[in-house]
Amino acid sequence: MDQAADSSATQPLLLLLLLGSLTLAVSLLVLIGHGRGGKARLPPGPPALLFLAKFVALRRSIFDLGPLLVDLHARHGPVISIRLFRTLIFVADRKVAHRALVQGGATFAERPPPADPSRMFTAGGRDIASSPYGPYWRLLRRNLASEALSPARVAHFAAARRSACDGLVSSLLTQKEEAVTLRPLLRRAMFELLVFMCFGARLDREALDEVEELQHQALLSFTTFPVFAFFPAVTKKLFRGRWEGYLALRRRQEEVFVPLIHAKRGDGDPPCYAESLLAVRASDGGRLTDAEMVSLCSEFLNGGTDTTVTLLDWIMAELVNRTEVQAKVYEEVKANPELNDLQAMPYLKAAVMEGLRLHPPGHFLLPHAVQQSGDGDVEIGGYAVPKDAEVNFLVAEIARDEAVWTAAREFRPERFLEGAEGHGVDITGSREIKMMPFGAGRRMCPGYSLGIHHAEYFVARMVRELEWRPPVDGEEVDMAETLDFTTVMKRPLRARVFART
Ligand code: HEM
Repeated sequence: MDQAADSSATQPLLLLLLLGSLTLAVSLLVLIGHGRGGKARLPPGPPALLFLAKFVALRRSIFDLGPLLVDLHARHGPVISIRLFRTLIFVADRKVAHRALVQGGATFAERPPPADPSRMFTAGGRDIASSPYGPYWRLLRRNLASEALSPARVAHFAAARRSACDGLVSSLLTQKEEAVTLRPLLRRAMFELLVFMCFGARLDREALDEVEELQHQALLSFTTFPVFAFFPAVTKKLFRGRWEGYLALRRRQEEVFVPLIHAKRGDGDPPCYAESLLAVRASDGGRLTDAEMVSLCSEFLNGGTDTTVTLLDWIMAELVNRTEVQAKVYEEVKANPELNDLQAMPYLKAAVMEGLRLHPPGHFLLPHAVQQSGDGDVEIGGYAVPKDAEVNFLVAEIARDEAVWTAAREFRPERFLEGAEGHGVDITGSREIKMMPFGAGRRMCPGYSLGIHHAEYFVARMVRELEWRPPVDGEEVDMAETLDFTTVMKRPLRARVFART
C-alpha cells in the first residue's frame, strides 16, 4: 500500500493533535474517576502522559508495549489501567482472568467497537471476532462451528491436508540455498489449505499470490498505529494517502472474494465455509450481505493461517535447537507412518502443547469489553471497570508464570506427559486457567481444535520426512520475538533440511 502519499509535513501536526486531544480525554476521565465517590476505584497505572509518549514514539499497536507492560505489572500489581483514547485495562493474573472470563459468564464477552480501518475491513464490526455479543454473533459462531469446524468437516479435508504437506515438503527440499527459511513456504501451504476450506476452490498461483498479499495487508492494518481512532474526519484528511490505500485494498478484496463466494459448486465439491454463509438466515429470514461474507471469509483465512503458521515456526525452531526432542518426535511418528491417529502420539501432542504454552501466537487476547446494558458497576480484581473500557489479558505472561510451571521459560514437552505437572491441562480454561493460548469463556477461539490438529499434523509430517539442523552445526537458533499480527520470530527460522531415508 502506498503510504508515501502521507506528507511527512503532516506528522508533527498529527502528533500535536493527538497529544492535545488525548490530554483532554485523560483529564476528563480523571475528573470522572474522581467523581466516583466511595465506589471501587480504577486499577492503578502509570501517568497517562508518560505512557502516551511511549505509545506515540512507537507509532504502532498498543500490543507492541509488551515489555513495558510487564514492568508496569511488576510495579502496580496484576491489574493495571492506562487512560488513553479510552480506559485500557490489562490483566496479568490467571485467577483474575478465570473469574472474569469464565465465572463471570457473559460479563466480559463484549468487544469494544472497532475503529477504522478495522471497522471497514470487518464490514462495520460484522465478522465474528468484532461483532457485539448477541444473536448475530451467536448465529455466525454456531454456523462456523457446525459447518466448517466440526470433526466431520475437518475429516473431510484430510486429503487436502495431505497434499498441502506433500507440496510443503517437496518445496523445502528443492530450495537452492543451503539453509531454507520455513515461514513463507509454510504460510503458502497453510494458506492454500484454508482457501480450499473457505471457497472449495483451488486458485492458480497468481490468484493465490494476490489473495495472500491482500490478506496480509489487511491484517497489518490491525497492528499499525491506530491513527484513525482519533478525530477520524480530520485524520482521514491528514493521512489521505494511507486512508485511500485502505479503501483500495478493501475494494480489491471485495472484487476478488465476491465471485469466489457465489461460484457455482457441483455435487462432488467439498462443503466449504462460503457455501454455509450463503445459506445462513437470521431469525427474520434475512441473508448476509456480500460485504459481511467477504469479511467473514477474510476472518476465516487470517484466523486459521497466521496463528498456526507462527506456532509452527516456533515449534520447529525449538526442535532445531533441541535435537533430543526432535529425535523423540521422530521415533513416535516413524512408528505410525499413516499419521491417521494423532491421539496415539502423546509426545507429538505434548510438543505442540508446549509450543502453545511457551510461544502463544497472540500474546494478548483480542480486546474484551463489558456489556453496556449491564446494571451496576462491574469489577475486575477488586477494581472498577468503566463501561467503555477495553480489557486486555496477557496470555504469554500467564503461561510463563514460574509459580505454576517449573522452569517456565524452557521448552520441555515432557511436562505434558502422564504424571507430569501439565498432564491433562484444560486448554479451554473452564476449570482453571494455567495457559490460555485460545482464550477462555464465551469468546474463546472457535477454531482451537482445528488449529491444534493442523499444528500436530504439520509437525508430524515435517519431522517424519525431514531432519532439521541449524544453518551452521552447533549454532543456536535466535529465539527473539517481535510483533507482526501475531508474535513471530524476529528472525524467522532458517534451517538445513535433509530427507530422511
Ligand atoms: C493455533 C491456532 C489458533 C490460535 C492460537 C488462535 C487464537 C485465538 C485467540 C487468542 C482468540 C481470541 C479469544 C478471546 O478474545 O477471548 C481467537 C479468536 C478467534 N479465532 Fe482463533 N486461533 C487459532 C486458530 C483459529 C482457526 C483455525 C480459526 C478458524 C478457521 C479461528 C477463528 C477465530 C475466530 C472467528 C475468533 C473470534 C471468536 C469470537 O470473538 O467469538 N482461530 N483465536
